[in-house]
This record gives sequence, C-alpha cells and structure tokens, in this order.
Amino acid sequence: MRTEIVHIGAGELNYEIRNIMRVVDKLKALGADINLENIGDPVAKGEKVPVWIKEIVSRASMEDCAYSYCPSQGVLETREYLAERNNRLGGARIDADDIIFFNGLGDAITKVYGFLRRTARIITPSPTYTTHSSSEAAHAGVPPVTYPLDPHHHWYPDTVELRKRVKYNPAVAGILLINPDNPTGAVYPEEILREIVQIAEDYDLFIIADEIYQNLVFEGARTRTLAEVIGHVPGIAMKGISKELPWPGSRCGWIELYNRERDPAFKTYTQSILNAKMVEVCSTTLPQKVIPLIFDHPEHEAYVGKRKARYKRMSETAFNTLKEIPSILINRTNGAFYMSVLFREGVLSTRQSLPIENANIRSLIESLLQSNGKISLDKRFVYYLLAATGVCVVPLSSFNTDLQGFRFTLLDPDEYSFLRMVNTLAEGMKAYV
Ligand SMILES: Cc1ncc(COP(=O)(O)O)c(C=O)c1O
Repeated sequence: MRTEIVHIGAGELNYEIRNIMRVVDKLKALGADINLENIGDPVAKGEKVPVWIKEIVSRASMEDCAYSYCPSQGVLETREYLAERNNRLGGARIDADDIIFFNGLGDAITKVYGFLRRTARIITPSPTYTTHSSSEAAHAGVPPVTYPLDPHHHWYPDTVELRKRVKYNPAVAGILLINPDNPTGAVYPEEILREIVQIAEDYDLFIIADEIYQNLVFEGARTRTLAEVIGHVPGIAMKGISKELPWPGSRCGWIELYNRERDPAFKTYTQSILNAKMVEVCSTTLPQKVIPLIFDHPEHEAYVGKRKARYKRMSETAFNTLKEIPSILINRTNGAFYMSVLFREGVLSTRQSLPIENANIRSLIESLLQSNGKISLDKRFVYYLLAATGVCVVPLSSFNTDLQGFRFTLLDPDEYSFLRMVNTLAEGMKAYV
C-alpha cells in the first residue's frame, strides 16, 4: 500500500473465546463430539427462554413502531424507566438523558474506549473480559495497563497494587471494574468498591463498572452497584440484557452516566460518545421497547432467582469436585456463570500431553501446536483437553493475564451432564500434569 493502512491497535484485537471455534469446527469435521464450555451464552447452552418472554417479544413484533429507528440515545420511555429503577436504589441519581443505548455492550465498550483521547488510559483488571482489555489497548495502540485480581483472596482486586499503579502512571484516567466478574465469578464486597472509588477520587479519575451480571449475584453474596457507592466521582455503569433475560442475540445494552456535570472534560467526553451514536443513527429498537415489560412481569424475579440458584448449585458441585486437586487453585463463583481454574506455578510444561484416541484428531492438534510457534502452556493444555475429551474451555492467559489456567461455564441446564463435564476436567488435569 502507498501509505500505512493498518491501525496502530490492530494487533491488540484478539478474542480467544471465539478463536477456538476454528479448531472446534476442524475437530467436528473429523467426527469429534464437542461440549462447548467457552461461550457465555445461556441460550446456546440449552436454557429455555420462557414462553412469557417470547409472548412479550412477539406482541411487540406486531407493532409497526418496533421496525422504525428510535432516538439515537434510545427509546425515551425505556430510559425513563431505567433511570427511575436506578434512582430507587438511592445512590447517584440519573435521568433519561444520562442513559445511552448500544447494540449490545460490546458496541458500548468499543465506543467508550474508542472515543477516549489516545494517550489517556483505563487501567483494566487482570485477568479480565477480553473485549475490554483489547478495545482499550487498541485505542491506545499499546498493550493494556492492568491491576491484579488476587486468586488467593477470592479473585478480589488487589487495591493496594491498584493504588500504586495509578499513582505512578499519570496516563491513567480511569479504572475499569467488572462486578460480578468475568472470567472469575467473583462478587466484590462493598469495602473493595468503596476503596476503588476512593482511589478514583484521590487521583481525579473516572470509573467504568461493567455490571452486565448485576442481577446474577447468588444468594449469600453481598455487593453494591457503582451508583450506590460512587458519591461525587464521575462514572459509567454498563448494563444489558444478554445475560439476565437471557437474550444475547438482541444486541442490546446501555450505559448510565453518573455525575456527568461534575467534570467538564468527562461531560465533553461522554457527549462525544453520544455524538458517535447519532452519527450511526441509533441502536436496535425492538429489544429496548420490551425491557420494561419483561423486567416488570410478575414471573421475572422468580425466573431469574431460579437460574441463580442453579448456577450456585453448579458452582458448589464444581468447587467440591475440583478443590482437592493439588496442582490447581480455585475459588467459588458467587455471581455470573463462570469459574476460573488456576494452575499452580511450575506445574505446566511443554512435555505434557493427553492420550488422543482418534489418530486424525491427534495429528491435527499436534500440527496446530507446532505451527502456533510459542504457544502459552495453558493453551496447550486446553487444546489437548479439547482433542482428548471434547470439552472446550478458554485458556486463562487469553484474559489479559500471565496466569495459567482456564475458564469454563456453569451453564449446562442438565446437572448430570454438568457433573460429567466437571469430572472430565478433573480427570483431564490429573492425567496431564
Ligand atoms: C463482562 C461482560 N461485559 C460485556 C459483555 C458483552 O455483552 P453484550 O452481549 O451486551 O455485547 C460480556 C459478554 O460475555 C461480558 O461478559
């Protein structure tokens, strides 16, 4: 090309959760039976969408207005409804103008980082959900700036380290937290959230809180929303319906802006995000229209409650099955529907493997491992596990961390098949290390 056409952040865009599907497709073509534990889509994993939700959506689909554009910021009645819902909690108050709808949070995430000044950085957790770290790094054109989640302390943020990294890196303009967390399933106690807010206040930063799993906190776990603890600090909460309804195919999520008026630069920055949405016209109309009807439906609370109770049972089952394995460290999941297994330092090596019965599959995986050059040790394990057992998980190192392990989901609606999968993981790890 006459001139350089590749974006400076192009190399930062990597999404292993879906990359591994290329390998899965090849294995399927060779006759492998695959159990997908990599993607956080409850519907794809077999959860039934209740008939009452389908009825609400099908009634809305009979109205012409569901087919039109909506305001760039989102359907006004729905924004008013969501603002009031937030205000009932009693934290930072917002109105409809403080909410912007997107085509899924994925869209919100790329715009929130994409419209930040290139030199301003958001410090992201490590490990973290890759869409955040990759989009942030792509915006800056250099690798992510991170703070650690501590596997020895329930995967909570190490706030001492966070404070230090913020203090010594003046490029940091904001802090990302995900609560409940993906990939760890941690739910942060109020004190930790307040400490993060304090750090933001001390260094004049804003906070981004991804709260897409906010209503999937298991019984017994306690936390707060960002709005409840933020005080006067500027902030962005990210919410959506992909996980809670669940309706990931709706591509519908929104951001809530707190204390927008308190900082002129934050106000201008958030206005640029809205302007970007205007340039694009608007987000999908129909899902926005049905949100209040679904959230207010008399069966909604019990329905979400039942799902949370099942995920909690799955978390207990997995924890009890895996906790005695000496080569790993795990924590219970307290919200969302993921669990991360961490291999203890030094237990993985390039000499390990699992027996793969099918010779074609064996040679495919071995050639993939060879052609991939310097592959991380946990990815190597994940490939062997996939080829030998059909269970597809995601290497932990692909979540913006050097830690070695993997993430699986608690989504299988069939509890026996879930137990079988967890036993397969346990046997696979024991045989591998
Ligand atoms: C923490 C987190 N944020 C955002 C998303 C993306 O959500 P959406 O389907 O609304 O794009 C996910 C999806 O897995 C997620 O885990």
